Amino acid sequence: MSTAKKEFKKVTTNVLQEMKRSGEKISMLTAYDYTMAQILDHAGVDVLLVGDSASNVMAGHETTLPITLDQMIYHASSVVRAIDRALIVVDLPFGSYQGNSKEALNSAIKIMKESGAHAVKLEGGREVKESIERILTAGIPVMGHLGLTPQSIYKFGTYTVRAKEEDEAKRLLEDAHVLEKSGCFALVLEKIPASLAETVAKELLIPVIGIGAGNGVDGQVLVTHDMLGMTNEFNPRFLRRYLNLYDSMSAAFQQYVKDVKSRDFPNDNEQY
Ligand code: KIV
Repeated sequence: MSTAKKEFKKVTTNVLQEMKRSGEKISMLTAYDYTMAQILDHAGVDVLLVGDSASNVMAGHETTLPITLDQMIYHASSVVRAIDRALIVVDLPFGSYQGNSKEALNSAIKIMKESGAHAVKLEGGREVKESIERILTAGIPVMGHLGLTPQSIYKFGTYTVRAKEEDEAKRLLEDAHVLEKSGCFALVLEKIPASLAETVAKELLIPVIGIGAGNGVDGQVLVTHDMLGMTNEFNPRFLRRYLNLYDSMSAAFQQYVKDVKSRDFPNDNEQY
């Protein structure tokens, strides 16, 4: 159980910034549905990310690109109905903000209006500056995302560690400053060297939340299905599995099949 959750009735963007100032680490996990979101919220997770990883985890697509704005809103509104405390951040999906800043603003407004979430996240650095600023004019908090940005997978061609070379590391650091200046309330850094992530977290005043970015940042995020061990083919070094649900769920399903076939289920007490 989180020790912080009693102190703040509801987690807001200001609370996250206060956590950074006081040195309290921020916990963030993904959520795409009501039942899981309720468990995550009751467990004291500070931020729930309705990530476009739903495209992989929930819909079985190979990349995050196919998920639509309406599908993200469906997932986000299911999560919103479950939450008492956590801050809910929703990914702007691929194709909903890259066109121009007006499109970005309209997509962000649609998410906020139709799902009831608290903030949006988008991928990219200086190239999305104008969109971030325009979304902020509507009073919608924006979280940035740098490093491995899965919506650009076809540009990079691989999911390997980013910003290992000096040029890319310098550009990432500059982009992080651009995002902070543009008004982002927090930043996700995905799969970059720990020393670079630590430098970003030290230089920025806003919270920096890492996934595969080491321990020198202000918080951590993982995909919930990965940390629960429900997905068993994704094995990056940064992933800590807290359970092996794939095996225990599989055993339960096999037992159910056996019980049905053998007429063991339902027994006398399990019927009317
Ligand atoms: O979509 C997602 O789950 C994410 C996290 C990996 C940060 O963006």
